[in-house]
Amino acid sequence: MDAYCFVAGTRESTTEVLEVHAPDDGRLVGVAGVPGPAQVERAVSAAAAAAGACADLPAHARAAALDHVSRRLAERAVEIAALISAENGKPVKWAAVEVNRAVSTFRWAAEEARRFGGEMQRLDTDPAAAGRAAIVRRFPRGPVLGIAPFNFPLNLVAHKVAPAIAVGAPIIVKPAPGTPLTALLLGELLAETELPAGAWSVLPVPNDRMAPLVADPRLPVVSFTGSGPVGWRIADAVPRKHVTLELGGNAAAVVCADWPDLEAAARRVALFGNYQAGQSCIAVQRVFVAASVYHTFGDHLVDAVAALDFDTEVGPVINDAAAERIESWIGSSGGRVLVGGGRDGRRVQPTVIVDADPKAEVNTEEIFGPVLVLSSFETVEEAFALVNDSQYGLQAGVFTRDLPTAFAAHRALAVGGVIIGDVPSFRADQMPYGGSKGSGVGREGVRSAMDDYTEQRVLVLNAF
Ligand code: SIN
Repeated sequence: MDAYCFVAGTRESTTEVLEVHAPDDGRLVGVAGVPGPAQVERAVSAAAAAAGACADLPAHARAAALDHVSRRLAERAVEIAALISAENGKPVKWAAVEVNRAVSTFRWAAEEARRFGGEMQRLDTDPAAAGRAAIVRRFPRGPVLGIAPFNFPLNLVAHKVAPAIAVGAPIIVKPAPGTPLTALLLGELLAETELPAGAWSVLPVPNDRMAPLVADPRLPVVSFTGSGPVGWRIADAVPRKHVTLELGGNAAAVVCADWPDLEAAARRVALFGNYQAGQSCIAVQRVFVAASVYHTFGDHLVDAVAALDFDTEVGPVINDAAAERIESWIGSSGGRVLVGGGRDGRRVQPTVIVDADPKAEVNTEEIFGPVLVLSSFETVEEAFALVNDSQYGLQAGVFTRDLPTAFAAHRALAVGGVIIGDVPSFRADQMPYGGSKGSGVGREGVRSAMDDYTEQRVLVLNAF
């Protein structure tokens, strides 16, 4: 197998090889090329050199490249979903959803590139500025270093790359060591475009060799998605850079007594606590249920979790360490396991726990596994306080039909997104996405990331 990476838009062989093995049975899925120091240097200097040309690209050229990638992802969707599933372990059904989402992420970026126009501001609101007006436009901060996680090997790479192309910022993508093959396949599609050399690179650099890239002043923007400890270390290491962190969460679903179909809500919670083995930052983890419907909901939830098809809906977790950690957190929860609780290697059974210790990791940390922790509340104010009693704040879901409760949730919940009438796991790729507190800083979602990669520059016009 040929081991390669993409340096400044060109496919290059490497001497060092990274083997990628399937999480479920350990079979060899493929190999990625680990770039040597000279290749990394060429990628960075090409990105710096291309910054002007990328920024000057007309909107139609950026949009054409983005539309091309969107179209090609759709054309090769079955093959790409199979690759995602093989290297990440997620069931093909979720891999296919991910490809569709990436199609949309690139398409949205093309559309946003076409309307990224800036705004006019009148300044004649004071006599001293009579006759003046301002045009406010956004310009790239400079080349971006995008560091992506394993749990969405395509779409979370897309969320780094597509907004960068849309604003005209060169980008170097560093995929997760466990799932670099999909990012390299995306590189094949980017290589079909006419973006300038240096506009993009895909470099599967090992995590422990990333410090010089993170520190490199030619990459003034670092956009990281992954674990909290790594993310905050990056922010601390480069305080003068523009750093965006999409970190973890222990997402909560609140089920209010007015929700008309508890069984349907339980099915949604069961599915989105366990989809792709709970390895999503917005997978449901904590479930707070109104006391008056707690037992009914709990019965439905246990039935729905027990009915999940492991192979098509859950799948294995990424590695042994994750499986061992999840098992140990279930064991130390101090609660009762209503369903699941065991594992066979990396196949962790979907699990529901009640009466867990509020200080146990299953409540306080991000499980990133197929585990739901169920508790009850008396008032919605109490429920919102329970949701907020967390070091994280990414998204929360509230099952209610009551409009004042929905607005109260929006005001009260210290999270980046409140989803009414569904689980916290809902995400549309064009909407702002990101967290408060330990869940990170900044927002992704196509337009938000475009804002993030750019800064405002004002043009003041006199004599108007
Ligand atoms: C994440 O795990 O942060 C991404 C979730 C998603 O895009 O659905």
